[in-house]
Amino acid sequence: GATRYEAESASVSTGGTIDTNHAGYSGTGFANGANAVGSYVEWQVSGPASSLAFGYANGTAAARPVDISVDGTVVATGVPFPATGAWTTWSTVTKSVSLAAGTHAIRLTATTADGPANLDYLDVSP
Ligand code: GCU
Repeated sequence: GATRYEAESASVSTGGTIDTNHAGYSGTGFANGANAVGSYVEWQVSGPASSLAFGYANGTAAARPVDISVDGTVVATGVPFPATGAWTTWSTVTKSVSLAAGTHAIRLTATTADGPANLDYLDVSP
């Protein structure tokens, strides 16, 4: 099964906050990254792993794209986090990866001025 890493335990770049004002999140809150290009949320996770699933909500009409990096290397660019219809409607975006054993930094970096979607958790599957 997957190991869940909550976003409230992740690192959030300047201006980001851990919020609780939109119901339905996992754990004790979610990460609300700053509305800016370059705004990021980063988890430290344990490999080995082959799949990442990001829980998120996007209550706007437009996707919130991010670059995904592993240990500082971008592995996917402009990955859309589509509108979910409401900030209280949570969905997932998945990404296949090849993570070796050991600790890895998984970072989502916003590529638009809207910043990232609200991020709830990262599920890491072997
Ligand atoms: C609203 C919403 C936040 C969200 C923000 C955004 O302010 O309440 O949770 O992060 O929009 O557009 O990013």
